[in-house]
Amino acid sequence: MDRSSIRVGFVHDGPLSSEQRVAYDWCRDALPTVETVSLDRLRYVDGGFDALWWHRGEPFDDTDWIADHRPAIEAYLADGGGLLLTLRALEAVPALGIDPVAPDAAGQEWLGEPTGVLAKSLYADHPVFAGFDDLRIHTRGPEVEVPFARYERILPARADVLASTVRGGRDLPKAVSLVSWGSGSVLGLGAAVSFAHATEAGHATRRGDLVRNALAFLADREPPATARGRPKTPEELGTLRDALADDPHRPAYHFAPPANWLNDPNGLIEWDGRYHLFYQYNPGGPYHHTIHWGHAVSDDLVHWTDEPVALTPSSDGPDRDGCWSGCAVDDDGTPTVLYTGGRDRVQLPCLATAADGDLRTWEKHPGNPVIEDLPSDIDLLSTEHWAAEFRDHSIWRDGDVWYQIIGSGVDGVGGAALLYRSRDLREWEYVGPALVGDREGAGSVWECPELLDFGDRQLLHVSNYDEVQYFLGTLDADEPAFAVETRGRLDYGDFYAPQSLRDDDGRYLTWGWLYEARPERAQWDAGWSGMLSLPRHLSLSADGQLQQRPVPELETLRAERLASYDGTLAPTDPDPLSVRGDALELRAEVRLDGADEFGLVVRASPTGRERTAVRLTDEELVVDRSASSFDPESAADDQRMPLPETSGPVEVRAFVDRSVVEVFVDERRCLTGRIYPTRPDSERVSAYASGGEATVESLDVWRLASIR
Ligand code: FRU
Repeated sequence: MDRSSIRVGFVHDGPLSSEQRVAYDWCRDALPTVETVSLDRLRYVDGGFDALWWHRGEPFDDTDWIADHRPAIEAYLADGGGLLLTLRALEAVPALGIDPVAPDAAGQEWLGEPTGVLAKSLYADHPVFAGFDDLRIHTRGPEVEVPFARYERILPARADVLASTVRGGRDLPKAVSLVSWGSGSVLGLGAAVSFAHATEAGHATRRGDLVRNALAFLADREPPATARGRPKTPEELGTLRDALADDPHRPAYHFAPPANWLNDPNGLIEWDGRYHLFYQYNPGGPYHHTIHWGHAVSDDLVHWTDEPVALTPSSDGPDRDGCWSGCAVDDDGTPTVLYTGGRDRVQLPCLATAADGDLRTWEKHPGNPVIEDLPSDIDLLSTEHWAAEFRDHSIWRDGDVWYQIIGSGVDGVGGAALLYRSRDLREWEYVGPALVGDREGAGSVWECPELLDFGDRQLLHVSNYDEVQYFLGTLDADEPAFAVETRGRLDYGDFYAPQSLRDDDGRYLTWGWLYEARPERAQWDAGWSGMLSLPRHLSLSADGQLQQRPVPELETLRAERLASYDGTLAPTDPDPLSVRGDALELRAEVRLDGADEFGLVVRASPTGRERTAVRLTDEELVVDRSASSFDPESAADDQRMPLPETSGPVEVRAFVDRSVVEVFVDERRCLTGRIYPTRPDSERVSAYASGGEATVESLDVWRLASIR
């Protein structure tokens, strides 16, 4: 709509306060037609307002009376009107029927530094940000005390988050300040837009532009397809994927979130012949907070379809601050998940059951949390964030008895996996610690413990903040005690908090979270963070060693064989490959023989100055990231994986997928590295030997198809 014809109703609920008066005066200068309209009169005004603006800096004594005005606002919105709620007027959303969840933080705040909105890159082209060429828009301060209302620990149930907060040079993603409901008919802008105190000219201009943009947008109401409110349908999640499709770091065939944040895989289950994947998801943005369970399904372990978010924190429940990691089981025909609910400093197990065969709708158990008291005979670690570190679940059944292990830590000792048992998944009895690690070797807290049963032996893996360790041995569940025979690492790179699914063929299939190796600010600017590893088949070899293989289903992605080679390779030989690509599988079987090193170079620029080398020596495999990125912020360390001595050829399988290189050696050891090449033409691939001649028994490169 042409701004010169917008009619704005400036809403007030009594005599204009000084804050409202200054805002109203600004509005009269900024827009052609502005009239005050009292909330009481709203229902009588057919007014023809294109947008209503309720701007309020004063606290509400109570918000009950606002409900009287709900019918008038609803009628106005139903008629196509738009509503802007700024500062503390945002607190009126439950009373007005706009959202059941009110902002959880409101009051007066001192802004020592210039402050403003931190726009989400996903919405950079939203009309509300028209004319701004930066995601960081300072609109207020410094040195002023101002009113605000924000979502900080929770999210509104139905709104898209358009922006958080920037203060000085710092991003504050957890301080959500700009949200959009429905088809863009209501905008809430709770902070950094007060008018009553003088401010720097630049800030005042940007503040005015932002509010004017918001009003002009509300008059028009044509939000981008990515901002039509929440919860989102699968199609709407697809619009988020489309919006990020051109990002050169988005993977082609690894699973990544539609946008925003992903961490651990959760609730993996094959149900009715389909694979269900849930994952830690923050719909608020690409940062770890307000964790929901995202959901996707697959028929073939390769292609995934987005499903609506499965679990959302309940603003009045024990999971208010997040639905953290957990697992899924088949409870005699009822898909059931157990996850960790967090609230304030307490984290406890919560249960939910699926209400449909597609695992879309989940009903939370009214008796949540299902464990309330922590074990008293053991001194669980208490930290800055949690009264006791106590989370994440792995469940199995033995006859009529369910067992679960929960991750924890024993104060002054080390990470712990605590064993419980139950007959009905709802009442749990504490059995004791299945295993407690030594702090030096195994870390102080164990997250996401998981037990895999290979018959006569079991594998317990734990994530200890740094790495994923596994213990192979036997569990005596009565004692309880886990007798460790061997231990190792599941992956030597950027891989964490894995979880497994036992498929209908009895295979254990494991996915891990591949976290970002670049700064939080770069993740914010990208609009997404995190992806999952490829599904790995975990098994024990005949000699009792852990095997890890990419599932054979992935071979269906091989779209084209780009190169094939066998023979000797000397340091002076030309590159036997000479191919390009950023979504590839490379498979080499090599004997080092006289060579010190055999290497695969990927994501290399034409001159090779930007490149990532996968280097194999007698002793180790290295993902050399010293030249992976010209961006100094994304520079990362080399990653090293020790290799056992061998007389035979070594198999190296490397999956290159834009910003990830996932390497499997001899179907046993894995190293996954995240890389961020800056040049679009950094896609050369080559192979070399150094220090002598290597024998390449086979070397193949395939271009892999995209899974979208
Ligand atoms: C592991 C973890 C879990 C927790 C979840 C929260 O990455 O910290 O311990 O349940 O992520 O998102």
